[in-house]
Amino acid sequence: MKLSVKKAFALVMAATLTFAMTACAGTADPAPSSEAAPVSEEAPASEEAPASEEAAPASEDTGEVKRIGLSMPTKSLQRWNQDGDNMKAAFEAAGYEVDLQYGGENEVPVQVSQLENMIAADVDILVVAAIDGESLSEVLATAKEKNIPVISYDRLIMNTDAVTYYATFDNWKVGTLQGTYLEEALDLKNAEGPFNIEFFTGDPGDNNINFFYGGAMEVLQPYLDSGKLVCPSKQTEQSVVATVAWSSENSQNRMDNLISSNGYGPSGTKLDAVMCSNDSTAQGVTTALVNAGYTAENIPLITGQDCDVISVKNMIAGTQAMSVFKDTRTLSETVVEMVDAILTGSEPPINDTETYDNGTGVIPSFLCDPVYASVENYEELLVDTGYYTADQLAN
Ligand code: GAL
Repeated sequence: MKLSVKKAFALVMAATLTFAMTACAGTADPAPSSEAAPVSEEAPASEEAPASEEAAPASEDTGEVKRIGLSMPTKSLQRWNQDGDNMKAAFEAAGYEVDLQYGGENEVPVQVSQLENMIAADVDILVVAAIDGESLSEVLATAKEKNIPVISYDRLIMNTDAVTYYATFDNWKVGTLQGTYLEEALDLKNAEGPFNIEFFTGDPGDNNINFFYGGAMEVLQPYLDSGKLVCPSKQTEQSVVATVAWSSENSQNRMDNLISSNGYGPSGTKLDAVMCSNDSTAQGVTTALVNAGYTAENIPLITGQDCDVISVKNMIAGTQAMSVFKDTRTLSETVVEMVDAILTGSEPPINDTETYDNGTGVIPSFLCDPVYASVENYEELLVDTGYYTADQLAN
């Protein structure tokens, strides 16, 4: 089954990514705006690649196709529409039935009730990207009672022993890539400075921010301590620089406030860099800075993550300095392999058994590799590999 699953996966990924990317890029505003329009859940993934009967993992007793409950956090950010579409297509190509649900606009009660329904419908396995990693203990306890395995997807679900495996990227490395980029771009090892910097991370309920922000600060904190980097607002605590729902609107509002309270501007107080943990927060920061009169020529260095279409366009236009590419095709493929293994009683792919403790113990994980992305290498990373077409990235 492995070969046919892989082959079918590759075919469907090509078709679905093209569809998903077209949908995202087709609706993206070339001006830095907050969010890509949602991709319809009715993506014609299944029609494009009908599941082969031979690949269908049938239950031994009943011959029924196995069902996956796939719970994504929101349709309001490009990332999750893409992940949902990719995974639905990959699972269907491997012969599974998929119930894909999005938790409204980051609405925890909606996600909880969707999970309740999936559990009540006796899905064979749950794959969950949590809106709030702390809010699923109760509902997942019922999954555990029914022996439904749970894969924590991208974000670790905390404080529940129902989580079987975790599939994600090396989230600490995401942060160190951002920190190291700023260290090199500002030449912090050699330059005298001081350089002014502000910080933005993501949602306080997302365990990933501990890794993103922790990784970035591992590189940057020594320079704040020595005074070579200065944060004029003094807002460096993770809880203070967090951005609820990773929303571009929220990061834009906070950046607007920082601009007025610190007098930042092309002819005002110098601002050299803004460390943002991802692209949606970076997009809000870019918008605020452009509104304050900055242009590609003098805008501070802004970091990001995800290579969202809007942010890649900003990198090309010079209003975002870098991003981190997390190839969600690889993550989907890993999750399909994990599910195949769990449901057939074999060993799932695992490459980390130390890093991710969810409060009930370390969750065996597979970490995909995040990659530095900028205007220098985006074509090679994103266009040549078929992740986006050049047209989708045209400003
Ligand atoms: C994180 C995820 C990032 C980013 C962010 C906002 O959990 O790892 O890739 O997309 O959420 O959606």
